[in-house]
This record gives sequence, C-alpha cells and structure tokens, in this order.
Amino acid sequence: MSRNEEQARDEHFWQGVAARYDVEPGPINLENGYFGRMTRSVVAAYQGHIEFINRSNSVHVRQRFDSLESLEIRAQLADLLGTYPESVALTRCASDSLHALIRNYNALRPGDQLLVSDQEYPSVLGAMRWLARNRGVELIEISHPFPVSFDSLVTTYQEAFERYPRLKLMALTYVTHRSGLVMPVQAIASAAREHGIDVILDGAHALGQIDFNLEALGILFAGFNLQKWMGAPLSLGFLYIDPKRLADIDPDMGEERYPLDDIRARAPYGTPNIPAWMTLPLVIEEHRALGGSAAKGARLNYLRDLWVSEARRMPGIEVLTPDDPRLYCGITSLRFRHEPDQQRMVDRLLADYNLFTVTRDGTAHGNCIRVTPGLANSAQDLKVLVRALGELSG
Ligand SMILES: Cc1ncc(COP(=O)(O)O)c(C=O)c1O
Repeated sequence: MSRNEEQARDEHFWQGVAARYDVEPGPINLENGYFGRMTRSVVAAYQGHIEFINRSNSVHVRQRFDSLESLEIRAQLADLLGTYPESVALTRCASDSLHALIRNYNALRPGDQLLVSDQEYPSVLGAMRWLARNRGVELIEISHPFPVSFDSLVTTYQEAFERYPRLKLMALTYVTHRSGLVMPVQAIASAAREHGIDVILDGAHALGQIDFNLEALGILFAGFNLQKWMGAPLSLGFLYIDPKRLADIDPDMGEERYPLDDIRARAPYGTPNIPAWMTLPLVIEEHRALGGSAAKGARLNYLRDLWVSEARRMPGIEVLTPDDPRLYCGITSLRFRHEPDQQRMVDRLLADYNLFTVTRDGTAHGNCIRVTPGLANSAQDLKVLVRALGELSG
C-alpha cells in the first residue's frame, strides 16, 4: 500500500482536514462534484482581497496585478501542470476554456469530420455541434458500450478512427461528469495521434484529484477549472495549448490586446475576478501541503471504495462505474435496478437518510444517481449511504 493510500484511511488525519472547512448544518453532502468548498483560510484570504481591491481599485490592478501578479499566477498554474507559463492562459471556467479552443480551432478543411462520445459534458457537446454547423463539417457522435472496460473504451475510439478516416478533431473528457469514469486518455490520445486527429481534453473534473502530466498524456489542447477539486474561489479556469500548436487556435473574437504569438490572445476577453485570482497562490500552497492531487485523490478513492464495495453486492443496486483502478476516481454513479425514476430515490435518500445526492442523465444508457464525496466527508458518512442503499434496494 502506498503512503497516500495509507494516509487515505487515517480518519483522524482527515478529521483534521475536514475541520479546515466551515460546513452549514444540513444534509450530508455527497454532491461535491458541482464545486468544491474553500478552506476557512482561503475564504478569509479571498474576503481580504475583495476588500483590498475594492479600496485600491484600478491602482493596484493596473500597477501590479495586470503586469506582475497575473504572470506569477500563470507561472504557478503552469507549474501545477508541469509545463511552461507560455502554454497557459487564464479564463473564467472550464467551459470558457473549452469553448475558446473549440470555436477558434482553425485547422479544419472542407470534408473534415469531428468526433464526440456520449460521455462529453453538455456544453462541450453543444460547442462541437456548433463548430460542425458553422464550419460545414460533419460531427460523428459515438456511444460507448455498457459496461465499459479499459480495452472497450480504447477500442471504441480505435474503431471510430478507422471507420471515419476524415476525422480531424475530437473532444475527450478526462473524468466524465455523469459517472466519474476516468478515460484512458494517454492510450486514446496516442491512437488519435496515429490517425492525425487532434484532441481537446476536458480536464474539468481531473485537476486536483488526479495526478497527471499533459505531456506524458500526449495532450496538446486542454481546458480546466479551479473551483472543483482545487477548492479555489468560483470563476477561475485556464486553458492549455502546446506552444508548438498555438497557430492552430485563432485569437478569440474581440481579443486584440496581445500579439499573435501570445497564448493570452486565445482566452475570452473580460475583466477577471481579480480578488479570486489573488487568492489562488494560497489555494495552490494548501493543495501542495496536503500532498497534492495524489493524496487528495487517494482519499476520495478510499471514500468511494467504502460504499462501492458494499453496493456491488446488493442485487437491487447497479454501480455504473467500473472498479478498474485506472478508470475511476472519487465520483461514482449507481442505479436502483427496479426503479424507473431515479430522482424519486434521490428524494428518498434526502428525506429518509439526510443524504444529498444528484441525478445525472444523458448517456445512451439512461439516468443515474451520482455520489461524490468531498474532503469534508468522513468514512461514517459513507456508512450512512451503505445502510440507505441496502434498505432502499432491499
Ligand atoms: C466534465 C465537465 N466538463 C466541463 C464542466 C464545466 O465546468 P465549468 O463549470 O468550470 O465551466 C463540468 C462542470 O461540471 C464538467 O463536469
């Protein structure tokens, strides 16, 4: 067992971590996938920055933030990804980042094809449909079989690559929002490269809970946010473009501040949430002090395993996310087998067990209940879930 896995089981240690968050009395929150909590110290720093920027107004922003601090923050983000500052531009969220990459991708030629799967996030799917309509190219939409395996995921893509030889660009979701499935990004990106297909990676749910390196994954274009697993203030995201491929993404509409060879020209124009950005160095410092994505991810996986190992044995419950450690993270989805309306069961979990979860729909295989523990949850919270699932499905 690795050091992170050992630490993941240390309830006393994680109690100390949970105590760093203020939590409103109410249901046990097993829907931490929407966005993460900030620690108390991050909230305090954020509040301080709001007050300071309000006092100093444009003087600090023009004298220091625009010319110095934002560059330092960009360098820290690049460091987090193990890459160069020149490959990173600040945005407001993952959608902003991914939309900018998609709408400004300029390497399409008449007759080219685009690829998405049923695992994509709706706003990415919508953007790829928009791109196809606006550039007069064809969008190929594939569905993954269920249940999936590492090989089936890769094979589904390989078959699509062979069947549609005019594919030029695809979206790929690192961690799917419906079931927390972790895509074999490296294997898929490598197969895509062999077919001359560019990949835009949606890293929204990956950053902060999965330890990855974009270069090792073979990813040249990616979009991220910082509010989910980094626990940063809302409204922060960033995009990544390998500098060698910067010319394949046009500057964003309306963006004329930066020279053509500056990645910042690829980010949507707008006044950023400056106090939130000023808080990011503390967020990154706390993230690193906790052991980074490897330690956080190990804890989230442990909490996930606590309930999934029990739920797998319940005949009335279908766990949708595989147990192959390469394919899951803290987020996992389930279905009550004999229940046509999963929302009704989400309501029962809340009313009868004080557990807050959410339904997700949209895969080719129907809707499900998503369970997402966060760093403020305890092993005990997951025991409540196990009891609830046993009783409600029995
Ligand atoms: C897989 C995935 N992609 C993209 C997004 C969008 O992220 P943002 O809200 O930062 O735009 C989400 C948000 O839940 C997501 O789960």
